Order: sequence, then C-alpha cells, then structure tokens
Amino acid sequence: MPPASGVLLTQRLLIRAASAPDAEPVALLRAAVLAEERWFLAAPDEVDLSPRALAQDLAMLDRRPNSRVFVGLRGDRLVAVCWLRGETLRRVAHQATLELMVSADQRGRGVGRRMLKHALAWAEGQPELSRLALSVMADNARAITLYRAHGFVEEGHRRGSVLEADGTLRDDLLMARGV
Ligand SMILES: CC(C)(COP(=O)(O)OP(=O)(O)OC[C@H]1O[C@@H](n2cnc3c(N)ncnc32)[C@H](O)[C@@H]1OP(=O)(O)O)[C@@H](O)C(=O)NCCC(=O)NCCS
Repeated sequence: MPPASGVLLTQRLLIRAASAPDAEPVALLRAAVLAEERWFLAAPDEVDLSPRALAQDLAMLDRRPNSRVFVGLRGDRLVAVCWLRGETLRRVAHQATLELMVSADQRGRGVGRRMLKHALAWAEGQPELSRLALSVMADNARAITLYRAHGFVEEGHRRGSVLEADGTLRDDLLMARGV
C-alpha cells in the first residue's frame, strides 16, 4: 500500500529524467489526471494509456535531443511528470511543447514549481531548443500563475475552444517563452 500523502510530504522530492521502468507509474498518474477531465483535452478513453505505449513514447522522446520527460518522486512514489515534446519537422524543431501534471494529493505545495524549474534548466542547456510552448485552460489559475511566474507569456486566447459534455464552452490560452 502506498504511504499516506502526509507521510510523503516529509520526503524530499527527487526529480530525474524518466526511463522505461517509469512507464507504468507515469501511465497511472496520467490516467488519474486525465480522469479529472478538467485540465487536459483528452479523456482517458481517447488515448492509449497502456504502460507499453508509454514506454514506447518515453523511449522515442529520449532519442530526440529536443525532448525529455522528467519525473518527480517522493520516496518510491511517482508524484509528478513533466513532458517536453520537441517538434519533429526541421523548421520547428527548435520548439517543444510542455505538459506538466502533479498527483492531486500533492498539488499546491511547490512540486509543480520545482518540476518546471528543473525542466526549464534542462531546456536552457539544449542548443537545439529556443522556444517552449503550451496550452492551458483559461480557468486553470494555478497553472497560469506558475507559467507566468516562470516567464511564459500569453500568445493567444481561444474563446469557446473546448465544449464540455454539459454544453458549457471553455476558453484556453496559448503560452510560450524563449529558452
Ligand atoms: C498545475 C500544476 C502542475 C501546478 O503544480 P502544483 O504543485 O500544484 O503547484 P505549486 O504548488 O508549485 O504552485 C505553483 C504556483 O501556483 C500558485 N498557486 C497555488 N495555488 C493556486 C491557486 N489556487 N490559484 C492561483 N495560484 C495558485 C502558488 O502560489 C505557486 O506560485 P509560487 O511558486 O509563486 O508560490 C498542478 O496543480 C497540476 O498538476 N494540476 C492538474 C494538471 C494541470 O493543470 N496541469 C497543467 C495543465 S497545462
């Protein structure tokens, strides 16, 4: 049984690059966050969340100099993942898309900030990369605060770009920064 979140909070957050054995816990965290159906567009049944697919994705990203996946661990438990997914076409290969997720019981305690700082420091050391971009729901105040604090600026506001099952329309923002 995993330790209670209170116990986990006393453990140091270790951040490192993801490797193949992380595929299963990354898949579980991704499935849990997508199941919230609030922060990301994909619902869990719309993407392949199998550890096998995740392992292939991690291996593929690991081979690209403009891409990296970082995981955050408290003890043995994976509590956060940050993807930097570099573009593959030559004229946009200086860009990567950032995606960040923290386990629900670990949010609001600095994990996301530390993951982002780590990913940015890595990106700044990659000569291939000079731009990071992301999209975020316009009502995701915590994520927007975090991204703005780390130099991301709003490049677009897409009104009504997301249609929820109950008919509600939501906006999302396009944000980016140089590295
Ligand atoms: C967004 C997310 C990655 C942030 O990680 P986190 O660990 O919860 O965030 P942190 O505790 O590091 O806080 C980040 C900043 O947001 C601020 N913040 C915290 N709660 C907030 C809130 N409710 N509203 C506005 N800002 C808030 C914090 O003060 C902090 O700023 P600081 O570093 O200047 O103090 C995390 O909450 C998450 O995974 N959410 C669900 C998935 C998601 O939204 N991912 C991003 C999609 S683009």
